[in-house]
Amino acid sequence: MKKTILFSTTILLSLFLVSCGDKPAPVEETATEEVAAVTELDADLQAGKEAFEMTCASCHGEQGNADTPTAQALNPKPRNYKAPASEWKNGNTVAGVTKTLKEGIKGSTMVSYAHLGDETIGQIAQYVVYLTKK
Ligand code: HEC
Repeated sequence: MKKTILFSTTILLSLFLVSCGDKPAPVEETATEEVAAVTELDADLQAGKEAFEMTCASCHGEQGNADTPTAQALNPKPRNYKAPASEWKNGNTVAGVTKTLKEGIKGSTMVSYAHLGDETIGQIAQYVVYLTKK
């Protein structure tokens, strides 16, 4: 009788130990993705940045300061995006920049970029306005 009790106690104890041993490790939550989303430009702005740097920066400068060698050689000079709104012909809003991009500015090297299509024009316009405030 004593033996049986000892035996079953041993079995219970080892079962208990086994079940404790393989507890799953707690899943660690990673906050890195959230941080990246906050620090990166949103997708449209990022697309606008890439198109701007490829198509417009040679005249307007990467930061929109119109400080490139090409800009110095032009008359009239490309718009410096940091200039006050009063110096803009169509205005420094998304709507104003969209109009400029669709129609161009007559009598200057600022031609129409309508061929880029509405989506790309919208993204670039958003990025130009972003540069005016940067
Ligand atoms: C060949 C040089 C050149 C390139 C390339 C160029 N621009 Fe211009 N841009 C100009 C010049 C010059 C003006 C000023 C025109 C004026 O004052 O009459 C101007 C003016 C502007 C203005 C100001 C309009 C206003 O309301 O006064 C905006 C916005 C603009 N450009 C955006 C762009 C964007 C976006 C691109 C690329 C898709 C681009 N430009 C490419 C030369 C250029």
